[in-house]
Amino acid sequence: MIKIYAPASIGNVGVGFDILGAAITPINNTFLGDFVTVKSSTEFTLVNKGIFFKELPTKIEQNIVWKCWFKFCKIIKKNVPVSIILEKNMPIGSGLGSSACSVVATLFAMNEFCQKPLNTKELLLLMGEVEGEISGSTHYDNVAPSFLGGLQLILEDSEIISQNIPHFKNWYWIVSWPGINISTSEARDILPKKYDREICIKNNRYLSGFIHASYTEQPYLAARLMKDFIAEPYRIKLLPNFLKAKEKIKKIGAISFGISGSGPAIFAVSDNIKIAEKIALWLKNNYLQNKKGFVHICFLDTQGVRKIG
Ligand code: HSE
Repeated sequence: MIKIYAPASIGNVGVGFDILGAAITPINNTFLGDFVTVKSSTEFTLVNKGIFFKELPTKIEQNIVWKCWFKFCKIIKKNVPVSIILEKNMPIGSGLGSSACSVVATLFAMNEFCQKPLNTKELLLLMGEVEGEISGSTHYDNVAPSFLGGLQLILEDSEIISQNIPHFKNWYWIVSWPGINISTSEARDILPKKYDREICIKNNRYLSGFIHASYTEQPYLAARLMKDFIAEPYRIKLLPNFLKAKEKIKKIGAISFGISGSGPAIFAVSDNIKIAEKIALWLKNNYLQNKKGFVHICFLDTQGVRKIG
């Protein structure tokens, strides 16, 4: 039996639309992600558990775990009958890489269970492919950090290569999911198909500047450059009082603030625990729309997917 945990992630850390993402872990040592357990069986079975299991589709073929299992068996050209338990602890359509948690945990678990027929590159490629089918287009900024940990920059020429970018260890990442859901594919459909030249240049300038600042250890420059000109202007309307939250959280002292993934989760960054706690409290009192919503103060999760127990 193998039990695997895959952490939540922020895909687009303000800057780096679709190509930069960070895995996160609560500072209080709790888990923020999905678990997948794989056991030997005579036929494929799937049991859904966890805080958000009721949000999962009832048809087994629509479950991400089944899709991963099916694709994995096809690629290794072998039917592997297993019994899987999914602990769905991430809300679907939250902006915190919920589908990536399930995809990464399942594919990693299957690969371990089968004595690693796929290497890291092949697994990442497969994770991106499944994630793409779910969200409408292939992007790796959730699966790569959830799989590999840390802050991942996803490069692509003739192949997909994910690079671990140095990050500031004293940064607290405060994430808040308001308790409502936004479908990733809908949040992508509202974006323009084409962008003006000046936006492209600005986007390049901020992303390259952020990567430079990360390597040269300039935290405040890096934080200032975490701006999104590609998605945020179009997605603001999908989020509850985003601009008010942004203004307030900056006033409290956040050095950066943005939409997590395709929203409605948001994130703020601070290098001071007292400020991080104040931000978390404000978000709890003002950004949450119902009892399901949550706020977590996190560090970046440097481990990524891992075996439990
Ligand atoms: N980069 C993606 C987006 C992340 O912003 O649409 C969500 O999966």
